[in-house]
Amino acid sequence: MEYEEPLFFTVMQYADAAERDVVDMVSGNPDWGAPDGISEGLHDYADTGGEQFQYPPSAGLRELRERIAERRGVATERVIVTNGGGMANTLGMARALERFDGSEVLMADPVYPYYPGKAEMLGGVQRFVPVDDTGCLDAADVRAAASDETACIVVNTPNNPTGAVYREETMRELAAVAEDYDAMLVSDEVYDHFDFTGEFTSALALNSEHVVVTNSFSKTYAITGFRVGYVVLPARDAPAARTRNMLTNVATSRPAQAAVLEALRTTDASYHEANRERLRERVETFTAALDRAGAAYTTPEGAFYVLARFPDYPGTMANAKRLIDEAGVAGMPGEAFGAARSDWLRFALVSPRVDTAAERLAEYF
Ligand SMILES: Cc1ncc(COP(=O)(O)O)c(C=O)c1O
Repeated sequence: MEYEEPLFFTVMQYADAAERDVVDMVSGNPDWGAPDGISEGLHDYADTGGEQFQYPPSAGLRELRERIAERRGVATERVIVTNGGGMANTLGMARALERFDGSEVLMADPVYPYYPGKAEMLGGVQRFVPVDDTGCLDAADVRAAASDETACIVVNTPNNPTGAVYREETMRELAAVAEDYDAMLVSDEVYDHFDFTGEFTSALALNSEHVVVTNSFSKTYAITGFRVGYVVLPARDAPAARTRNMLTNVATSRPAQAAVLEALRTTDASYHEANRERLRERVETFTAALDRAGAAYTTPEGAFYVLARFPDYPGTMANAKRLIDEAGVAGMPGEAFGAARSDWLRFALVSPRVDTAAERLAEYF
C-alpha cells in the first residue's frame, strides 16, 4: 500500500473548500472535551518554570511512567512515554524488525493506513490478511499467512476502521502465532476506553515475551494535539527502544506530560462512561439512518467509526467527494484502508452533528 500523503487530508481539504455546509465525519478528533485535570495540570505547570521547563527524561517523566506501569500491572522499566500512539507504534514495529530475522509485517485489511506506511519506512515488507465479516482478524488466517519471514503482526483493538473488539481467545492465539514464528505481536490499544462490549482484552494480559502494547492519551482524554502516548515492551526489548526513542524523538513534551499526569490523578471512571454513552447514542442514531438508506454496515463494538456500504455507491475517492457535494457529509473512502473494504465508506462519530449527517444520508440514498 502506497503511503505518500494521508488521503484523509485530501478529503478534509475538499470538504473545507465545498460551497455548501458539510458535516465532517472524517477526522478522529473527539468533540467532547478533555477532563478538567488536563487544564489544571497545564496551569500548574505554567507556574513552575526553571528546571521544570528543561528536558524531561527521554523515556518520560518518572512519575508518569510509574503511574502508567501501576495501572497496567507492569514494571516501570518496560514503559516508554512517546509522542502519541503514532511514535509508540513506530517503536514497537521497529523493535520487531530489529529483533527478529524476517522482514514481513502482517496487518489486517482494512488497516489503519499508518501501519503499512511505517512498515515500509522501517524496511519491512507489507503483508495483508483480510478481516472476517465481523471486522476482526481470524487468528487461523493469520497463522496460515505467517512464516519464518514474519517479524511483526500488528493489530488494533478496538479497531479503526471496523469498530471490532478482538476477543480474548483471538488475542491469545495471535500471541501464540507470534511466539511460534519468532515474531512480535504489536497491539495498538489507543481506543481501549471506547469498548462498548466489556469484552476488550489487552494483549498485556497474555504475559508474552512476544507482545508489545501501544496506547495513547489522544483519544482517552480528547487531547490529540498534546501528543502523549506510551509503549509497553518486553523487558529485554525496552533498552533498545529507549535508545531509538532518544535518537528520533529526544523526549515527549514536558507540559503535555504534566497535564496527563494530573488528569490520571484526578479523572474518575464517570468521564469515560459518559463518553461511551454519548457514542452509543450516536451509533444508534447513525445506524438507524443507515437502515433507512438501505446500507450494509458493521455496528461498532468499540472505537468511534462506522463502516457502511451503500447500494451501487463504492467507497472511492470520487464517491466520497460526490457525497460531500451532493449530500453534505464527508466520510473517508474505504479504499484508503486497503482492498477488503474498498466498496465501503468510513464515518467518524466524533461530531456533535451526527443527527444531521444521519438525516442527510437517509434522504440522499
Ligand atoms: C488505530 C490508531 N492508532 C494510532 C493513532 C494515533 O494516535 P496518536 O494521535 O496518539 O498518535 C490513531 C489515530 O487516529 C489510530 O486510529
